[in-house]
Amino acid sequence: MSLAGRSLVSINDVSNGEVEGILSLADKMQDSKGSKLDLCQGKILASLFFEPSTRTRLSFEAAMQRLGGSVIGAVDTKTTSLSKGESIADMARVVGKYADIIVIRHPWEGAARVAAEYAGVPVINAGDGSHEHPTQTLCDIYTIKKARGKIKGLTIALCGDLKHGRTTHSLAYMLARFGATIVFYSGPSLGPPEYVLRKLTTEYNGVLRRPTGRNLSSLALALGGSGKASATLDAIYVTPRTSHDLALIPDLRAEVDLKGVDALYMTRLQQERFSDAKGDTRKAYPVVDKDVLKRKELKRALVLHPLPRLDEIAREIDADPRSMYFEQAAHGVAVRMALIALLLGVQQAEAPAERTLPEVVTQPEIYRSDLGSRCENPACVSVHEARYIAPEFVVCGNKPLTLRCVYCDYEKQPNYVGNLKSRIYYACQDIRARQIKVSNSVFFDSEEKAQERGFRPSAKAQQR
Ligand code: NCD
Repeated sequence: MSLAGRSLVSINDVSNGEVEGILSLADKMQDSKGSKLDLCQGKILASLFFEPSTRTRLSFEAAMQRLGGSVIGAVDTKTTSLSKGESIADMARVVGKYADIIVIRHPWEGAARVAAEYAGVPVINAGDGSHEHPTQTLCDIYTIKKARGKIKGLTIALCGDLKHGRTTHSLAYMLARFGATIVFYSGPSLGPPEYVLRKLTTEYNGVLRRPTGRNLSSLALALGGSGKASATLDAIYVTPRTSHDLALIPDLRAEVDLKGVDALYMTRLQQERFSDAKGDTRKAYPVVDKDVLKRKELKRALVLHPLPRLDEIAREIDADPRSMYFEQAAHGVAVRMALIALLLGVQQAEAPAERTLPEVVTQPEIYRSDLGSRCENPACVSVHEARYIAPEFVVCGNKPLTLRCVYCDYEKQPNYVGNLKSRIYYACQDIRARQIKVSNSVFFDSEEKAQERGFRPSAKAQQR
């Protein structure tokens, strides 16, 4: 199996088999620890970190040095020409001529995708805003597999700021793809984005149950440490099973409370990502401490955290054998060594003997047009760099018509759709709108916008 020349922007850019290949090479890299290899001699890694980082940047740089390569880097937009208004595309084109591989962390969602489109060398996303962090997921999965031997069939709780925590988004996709049950427990108003939940069901074909009414999950209520906080149970995702199977488990919430979880993945409040991270949000934020760990639901649970932690994991549990977060961070070097070596083509990975679960099930259609709707996520790279990035969306739902931005995954529901051939537009609910092929469609947010672009209303739209 070769990954040579590829980029890793989303965890969904690699198949399950490829992930297993990366992790088994990471095992070998782990064994070589302490010795410097010469696999990447003469190769250069560009380390571009436009957001704070300790573990991710240093483990990437340590990984390249252990592989015998060297590192060039920038750690602040202020010290690069981005501060002079240079585009990410131009920067990537240039850095791609200086280095053999680029690692980029940037606050704009989709920035790594743009860099990968222009660099001409492999690009690794080391975190793009609140969106994704695929290499952290590789470390997370590696840690769980080492401790439990498998992912399939495990029940894993993601907890904390699931809205802004990019590590939880990439991890949720990966867990779903490997066949785990995922329980989402969030802090106050910090539930997972709709696009993450929708992807789990539309692309991995799983079943998502959202509890209604009061939060009756015992673990959710307990996740508050000795303080007054608790978590909210947002959803439970179960990997595709037969309907017969599901019928046997009518109440997933009770099942989770009864059987407990195999791992609790805690995350910090991402206060830098939103302005209203008030004291109240902090006070009500879930915490894992000694008392919480005594609960029967967590008896066998590994405690994971991408770090850095604030107060959501009490220091008193650091010595508990279930606490894995420092080990998880330590795995970063071996996992990243494996990934760099594979993308640079200096190593091949062994393909796994048996294929795991179904990969992405549906391949949605892509819609790309300069004329119509743009992404509404203020953190999206296509908004910041609109001068050269045309909006690109996946049509991910029909009732109501829903578009998902290719760069940041943010969803929107346009109101009107124009036919490029006839130059007539319709309300999206109009049956005739559904008959237009995506390749002939232009989506608009308002009639004014459609008319500005030279489209005429359909007879029905005129009557309205
Ligand atoms: C995470 C990140 O940057 O998203 N840290 C990491 O890379 N290990 C988590 C965080 O910052 O909370």
